[in-house]
Amino acid sequence: MDIQASNHIQQLRRGIFNEILDEKRRLEKEGKSLIDLSIGSPDLPPPDFVTEIIQHASKDYFYTMGAIPTFNGKVADFYNDRYDVKLHPESEVLQLIGSQDGLAHLATAMINPGDYVLVPDPGYPIFEVGVRIAGGQPYPLPLTEENDYLPRLDRVPQHILNRAKMMILNYPANPVTATADRSFFKEVVRFAQKYNILVVHDFTYSELVFDGKRGISLLSVPGAKEVGVEFNSFSKTFNMAGCRIGYMAGNEKVLNIMETMMSHTQYGIFYPIQKAAEAALTRGFDFMEQQVNTYQSRRDVLMDRLNQAGWPLSKPPATMYVWTRTPGGRDSMDFTFRLMREAGIVVTPGKAFGPEGEGYVRISLVQPEDQLAKAAERINRF
Ligand SMILES: Cc1ncc(COP(=O)(O)O)c(C=O)c1O
Repeated sequence: MDIQASNHIQQLRRGIFNEILDEKRRLEKEGKSLIDLSIGSPDLPPPDFVTEIIQHASKDYFYTMGAIPTFNGKVADFYNDRYDVKLHPESEVLQLIGSQDGLAHLATAMINPGDYVLVPDPGYPIFEVGVRIAGGQPYPLPLTEENDYLPRLDRVPQHILNRAKMMILNYPANPVTATADRSFFKEVVRFAQKYNILVVHDFTYSELVFDGKRGISLLSVPGAKEVGVEFNSFSKTFNMAGCRIGYMAGNEKVLNIMETMMSHTQYGIFYPIQKAAEAALTRGFDFMEQQVNTYQSRRDVLMDRLNQAGWPLSKPPATMYVWTRTPGGRDSMDFTFRLMREAGIVVTPGKAFGPEGEGYVRISLVQPEDQLAKAAERINRF
């Protein structure tokens, strides 16, 4: 039998992340000691009250069929407290099985074959892949160091604007670690209104902002709800990555479309996880502060040591990553594989996030400080 993937799926190639994982496993089998700073999966546990709620789950194995009645209200309160955004719990919040799943499904719900979607380059891979799965056409918005990793919206050609239905943004940004200010989001809203383009903002790293600063929600800008939606997650803020829970907020029509689709594809999230997520939103404020301190001090340990050794890096303002040029502008794949084989340090080549990422690597701060210090030592020797 001739078995073929659909044309849309055939466009996807096995990710660079898998190639790195294969090599990592091979080296581990050979007995090499590796420090893994590649994947962005938090190494620390969620707050104790979160794990307790999940551990005490006993008879709650029914289909939840979506958010439990109190969940959306808790998100609305959180958005009000943290980002000064008023959300209507009934119509402006939608629970998701993680923002990854939501981002993948949003393109399927909104995009027709041939529609263009503006996506950041470098950017988190699902932005582009979700569009391709839906049969749409991603159009890269280059994020360059010279422009503080913000896209130049004035450089998108008119013929693309005529066919663009959606644009995806992500601040604080993975992998480039940049933040955006309110004036940028105001420009984005004006652009979206002018060209009739839906804005999708991924705010997954909303709470990992350093040096006393705070994350800014797209929805805090006037007019944003008319043109946009925002995704948020419990994965990084509360170390609940494996729980698979997140939400989107904002434009009511878009949320309605998503809900209709999800009513056919999903039966809701495990009840104790929803309860634990609610608790995180209401009781997690001290925890969030500790998280910022932890990542900020990890950042400082790694950066200070690498800088001392002559790899001049500037400190990331946010996220759980360091984004840096490869020494001497070396090819990012070649540098990554050599660093893994010769120094035992696993990082992610910038190319994995799009062509503009070439010449850079991403280092994740997902190890304790002593391991990061050891990693810096090994990198410096290498
Ligand atoms: C930018 C960005 N968006 C979304 C996700 C996935 O989040 P979730 O665990 O909520 O699906 C990640 C995970 O690394 C991410 O970096």
